[in-house]
Amino acid sequence: MTQTINVLFLAAEAEPFIKVGGLGDVAGSLPRALKELSNNEVKYDIRVVLPLHAAIKAGSLKPVSMFSLQRGAVEVQAEAYEGSLDGLPVYFINGDAIRASGSVYSSNNKLDAEKYVFFSLAALELPRQINWTPDIIHCNDWHTALAAYSNLVERWGDRKRRIASIVTIHNLPFLGPDIGEKLESYNLPLASTDLPHWARILPMPLGLWASDAIVAVSPTYAAEILHEEFGCGLQEFFRNRTDTLHGILNGIDTVSFDPQTDSALQVNYNADDLPARAKNKLALQELLGLPVNPDVPLLGIVSRMDPQKGIDIALKGLRMLKKQNWQLALLGAGDPKLEAAARKLQEDFPDRIRIETRFDAKLARRIYAGADLLLMPSRYEPCGISQMIAMRYGCVPLVRAVGGLHDTVTEAETGFVFVSANVKAFNEALRRALTLFPDRAAWQTLQKNGMATDFGWRASAQQYANLYKRLAEGLREPYRAAENSKWNVREDKAKLQPIYGGGE
Ligand code: GLC
Repeated sequence: MTQTINVLFLAAEAEPFIKVGGLGDVAGSLPRALKELSNNEVKYDIRVVLPLHAAIKAGSLKPVSMFSLQRGAVEVQAEAYEGSLDGLPVYFINGDAIRASGSVYSSNNKLDAEKYVFFSLAALELPRQINWTPDIIHCNDWHTALAAYSNLVERWGDRKRRIASIVTIHNLPFLGPDIGEKLESYNLPLASTDLPHWARILPMPLGLWASDAIVAVSPTYAAEILHEEFGCGLQEFFRNRTDTLHGILNGIDTVSFDPQTDSALQVNYNADDLPARAKNKLALQELLGLPVNPDVPLLGIVSRMDPQKGIDIALKGLRMLKKQNWQLALLGAGDPKLEAAARKLQEDFPDRIRIETRFDAKLARRIYAGADLLLMPSRYEPCGISQMIAMRYGCVPLVRAVGGLHDTVTEAETGFVFVSANVKAFNEALRRALTLFPDRAAWQTLQKNGMATDFGWRASAQQYANLYKRLAEGLREPYRAAENSKWNVREDKAKLQPIYGGGE
């Protein structure tokens, strides 16, 4: 008999409906990869839930339910709509809190707190409304982590409830805004946890604490968050959870990102036809108004402009290496200070730098196909997706050895790797790359090695599937850990009732 595993997959964004960052890539491609693992023994029924952000066109969506959440004495209305993604059901939740915020992520913490608390709780309620029972609630980042917490609260109230939860960490430093009062207003008790005191009112730590399994998006990141430098204050908590903490590397959508078929490229190519690839470089130089020259190493950056990404390190480093021959194509928007620093560099070196501060998926693909080297000097990088796409497109990555970058790029085999987050280390790696570049045969070996590496989802999706299977068979009871903790609930917000009484 075929076993069916039902998974409710919650995210703030998912391609192709809406994408701001890497979470959107993963939430768009992992559920499809999981569904494809279905066979005669196990069928994975994965259903994605997203907020109906203002930018999503609701036209073709089918209304499926209207329901309300109890908030104190008030009933808060929620609406659910259904669409699909390659045959996979995708639900969209709407409500006043979602309509009020406008953008996917707002710089206004209050709006974001309202929106994502509402979204997490409404998404958790949705299965009851559509008469479908998940085995697993799969949450992603702080925006949806509260669903794991609320799921546990429901489990405590109803011993027959057998629904497990997973929280995947894509970007730990974003722990979410203070939702202490919101918990109270939605009648969610504050649990007695072994979290640090300050973390007990933040959605991400609460979700991590309540979840049956925690997944970091690469094995190295899973190890890094056990330490102060990357643990965001939760390192001790993670050290207590190593039995349920997993590192599963993200994959990329190898159908969409395929240089043989990508319609954004001037010329399609594969690893056996690298001269065809070279035409994309000339076309990119021309498109950007850079001197057209196959012999100048063309460096690319495709990135959110965020201190996380270490763009400042690259900008400073390049300025110091001005005597060397290189060109730079940088595509990315975000932090105004970083954007300004990039523009200043372009002003100072107008004949070798082009900065495009916007979101442009087509230009991104042309950079992967045309640049010789992709720079990713990240301060931290839970997984990183650009380096994998770059390798698939024969663009050699130069990365800092952190998180997923460490797991996917190997010095002298597929790219260039440096360790310390500073200009000196970055420049040493860049010098190695620029020195090797004229050796066409050696460079092509790097390109071909990268192009031959399998970055598809299959292996990683299988690891998630194995985890789903294990969780569907047995639930974790995190309060056991908390019962042993020294923390006394009465020290905390006395007016909030602890979830369980004794023991402390
Ligand atoms: C976040 C992380 C990035 C990761 C992505 C998807 O954007 O910063 O490293 O690849 O999430 O998991």
